[in-house]
Amino acid sequence: MADISAAPLAPGAIAPPGGNSIPLFTTFVHRAAAQRVGAVLASTFLSEGKLVKEFEARLSAELGMRHPAALNSGTSALHLALEVAGVGPGDEVILSPQTFIASALTVVQVGATPVFADIQYTTGNIDPADIEHRITPRTKAIMAVHWGGYPCDMSELQALATKHRLVLIEDAAHAPGATYQGQPIGSIADFTCFSFQAIKHLTTGDGGALCARDPEKAREVFRRRWFGIDRANSPVNELGERDYDLTDVGYKYHLSDYAAALGLANLDGFSDRMARRRTLVQQYNDGLHGVAGITPFERKADRESAHWLYGFHVENRLGFIRTMRSKGIAASVVHDGIDHNTLFGGKRPELTSQRRFDETQIHIPLHDDLSAEQVDYIVAAIKQGW
Ligand SMILES: Cc1ncc(COP(=O)(O)O)c(C=O)c1O
Repeated sequence: MADISAAPLAPGAIAPPGGNSIPLFTTFVHRAAAQRVGAVLASTFLSEGKLVKEFEARLSAELGMRHPAALNSGTSALHLALEVAGVGPGDEVILSPQTFIASALTVVQVGATPVFADIQYTTGNIDPADIEHRITPRTKAIMAVHWGGYPCDMSELQALATKHRLVLIEDAAHAPGATYQGQPIGSIADFTCFSFQAIKHLTTGDGGALCARDPEKAREVFRRRWFGIDRANSPVNELGERDYDLTDVGYKYHLSDYAAALGLANLDGFSDRMARRRTLVQQYNDGLHGVAGITPFERKADRESAHWLYGFHVENRLGFIRTMRSKGIAASVVHDGIDHNTLFGGKRPELTSQRRFDETQIHIPLHDDLSAEQVDYIVAAIKQGW
């Protein structure tokens, strides 16, 4: 993870509005969360129970997620999606390197090989035009990462998946609340994986959700998130043990009720928080429009980003980061292309858009504690040059 801490202010510099520095992210905890989590602690029923169910029901009703199974992390969601999709040893999964290592790590965990396709320099998302020539008889799935919460070209990816009979998995760790052509992310692909980790815009502390479009696969997800036992249909017998027969490998991946209580509190007002993010993004867009040295990411009208990140391309990036830091403003790449890791085979020079992206992408603060005055301050600081 990149350095996302608040930038230290240069000696003698004027402090930004609202404090000494503006961090890239903050963690949103709803004011009712302490009471809700406290009630779970007082009940002493801490593990997976009715609050997990309630959380799932609200993810479905309010964010449009299909059959969401609440899990203990986004990484668990990716791993379980690959397992339930039947990806295993010898298989290949095509994905973009512009992501966090969890995306490709889980592919390796199931014994498969991550095959990196190039990205669109304009968005940081996988380039559908760079996929087909990478498909081999071993290819089992395409994994689409919605970089910063901006949805990938899902129609093109679905067409490729259908044509080559591949499973389409969305790594939507950054994208709860995003939509594509009017459809919520979490209702489109075969599997969609969300993260509710601490700095995500909907957090349970740590947590995630896995949506499987097919009801049969969804049942398998629910079963295999808890050791492989079908909890709902394995009543406890007179001897005090559940009646079940384990048929395949399961995991201990479920969310717990105290984490669900935090998630439930944070869902209150979620759409208002998203609307506020959109307003801040518009303020940045207007303020930075036409600034020399900055190229905005492409944003199409047929999809709405979840706006987890606010990013763009910048010239003289290190100069930009240092200048912003001296003014108390955090700026970070968040992640650069993960293919450089030895585990994934090392840096691929032929992924030319990824390599260009690695040189110029940057992100500036976007979070629930960010004020309009702070955005004005950041825009003014950028306009002064770097
Ligand atoms: C793109 C992406 N995928 C997966 C993950 C893993 O999510 P988690 O930290 O909830 O396991 C992250 C985490 O930040 C991420 O950024």
